[in-house]
Amino acid sequence: MKKMRIGVLTGGGDCAGLNPALKWVVKTAMDERLEWKRGTRYEVLGIRDGWKGLVNVDMTSPHTHGSLVPLDPDVVRTWDRYGGTFLGTSRLSPYDPKNDQSKKVIENIERLGLEAVVVIGGDGTLAIATRLSKEGVNVVGIPKTIDKDLPETDYTLGFETALNVITEEVDRLRTTAGSHKRIFVVETMGRTAGWLALEGGESCGAFIILIPECDFSMDRVNELVMKGKRAGTRYEIIVVAEGAKPVGGTEFVKKEGVDSFGHKALGGVGEFVAHEIERGTKLETRSVVLSHLQRGGAPCAYDRRMGRYFGIAAVDLVVKRNFGKMVCVKNGKINFCPLEDIYGRLNLVDVNTQYDAEHYNGRRTILNG
Ligand code: F6P
Repeated sequence: MKKMRIGVLTGGGDCAGLNPALKWVVKTAMDERLEWKRGTRYEVLGIRDGWKGLVNVDMTSPHTHGSLVPLDPDVVRTWDRYGGTFLGTSRLSPYDPKNDQSKKVIENIERLGLEAVVVIGGDGTLAIATRLSKEGVNVVGIPKTIDKDLPETDYTLGFETALNVITEEVDRLRTTAGSHKRIFVVETMGRTAGWLALEGGESCGAFIILIPECDFSMDRVNELVMKGKRAGTRYEIIVVAEGAKPVGGTEFVKKEGVDSFGHKALGGVGEFVAHEIERGTKLETRSVVLSHLQRGGAPCAYDRRMGRYFGIAAVDLVVKRNFGKMVCVKNGKINFCPLEDIYGRLNLVDVNTQYDAEHYNGRRTILNG
């Protein structure tokens, strides 16, 4: 029987759903029941720390070196119950213009005898996969990111678990906010996409939701807060995406510069909004940054299931030698698309159809346009 070795890695920010996907890549690739039909026996090599693990590999002993870990169904048996990634991750880009290490990665893939690499990542990691694919490397992508900003797919692993975190944390905040009659501004992640704030805010019933796709006016925010107060509310929950900004202003950043994927470190808008509400309304206002809590914890049922489906579909593509693709879900159906179709594009909230820009909230009509 033919033997084939495939590699699998997780890159970029971790999130829930990565370990379920890893488990199902391994279980599907090494499923003995499918071996005869395929005429191929697959071996799966886990690559540690994203692309970093393919930059520096000790070729003398690929099975014992720290950047590689041989996987099999026994090793991954319980992985789908856990958050994060057991393979580790990094934001190292082999195409970093300041230090291009892409040749090393290609050489190492060849020297390790990897006939294909399954890449589980967000926009940065999959952009690298796309470029490698153009250089002849056999890659298949699996979409993950709590930001849900990848195009050509209705879902990215980690998003639903992050929404659950937002909902649970806001439930907790409500009891203290109500007791003290305070306004709470909750800052979510999401980079330049408003999905986490919007759908998180909708899930937890936020009074106001501010997203990057629609610049906000502080006067309008304060007007809405005062309207709520006059209507008798004791406290309010305001959800703001880290990438949201006031009209005429710029994004709030925690530090200057970008990482090797070209991403800014966003943060601080929650504190700004809280300060401006207190200044404008004289109502006591506090802010909370949910930060990496949104990426933590065990995967919810949906992420376990989607990790499973994406993992299986990715191996289906490898078996068919249908490379240069990303698995995706569209209208409830698992499918795939060319990696090139997602390169350099982002899936953002459509303010006209998915947001109420007058009340800074989710839309109030769904079927009527
Ligand atoms: O892309 C996922 C994400 O969690 C963003 O929402 C956030 O801006 C960023 O990663 C944070 O990155 P880091 O873990 O490097 O602080």
